[in-house]
Amino acid sequence: MTNIAILASGTGSNARKIVEYFSNSEDIAVRLIASNKAKAKVLDIADEYQVHKFAFDRAYFYESQDFLKVLKKERIDFIILAGFLWMLPEYLIKAYPNRIINIHPSLLPKYGGKGMYGHHVHEAVKANSESESGITIHLVNEEYDRGRVIFQRKVQLEADDSAEIIAKKVLEIEHEFFPRVIEDFILTF
Ligand code: GAR
Repeated sequence: MTNIAILASGTGSNARKIVEYFSNSEDIAVRLIASNKAKAKVLDIADEYQVHKFAFDRAYFYESQDFLKVLKKERIDFIILAGFLWMLPEYLIKAYPNRIINIHPSLLPKYGGKGMYGHHVHEAVKANSESESGITIHLVNEEYDRGRVIFQRKVQLEADDSAEIIAKKVLEIEHEFFPRVIEDFILTF
């Protein structure tokens, strides 16, 4: 069994899809959902599916390396970032080389980098009257939004699509593809 941990900061609609997708898998199990927000909705999903959950603050995450012990205890092989909005500390990236996967709601390198997350991305796409947007699933390295791209999918936009509509279109393809891309990546690792 390959064990994965999901890190998320918010609602966790992607986390939910991932947990559901692997709930009957014989190869991959979601063992842990962790968040930088103790009250994040994503942690309720852990309760629902009897997955371990863990919340941490800035000092814990950046000034100690104790999170590695939590990951070790759960025998975590891969880390999935599903709407996790903090930069990862170097010790974590070093401990999981090529084993941390992020999803970004744009066609990177467009609309990536600092400050580009969630609705900010879709507002920028709208402001530039883009005719398409999409998702990027990539490995995480020390540079923000710059790791190796493993999957991209475009979505067509209409001229009158609001930022909210763009967000909805993008989230739909995130839900459709993220679990499958994680599975393919892990099974061929
Ligand atoms: C997703 O759209 C994800 O791509 C984005 O946050 C959202 C989380 O939604 N991630 C980033 O912007 C990372 N830079 P969710 O909590 O409903 O899964």
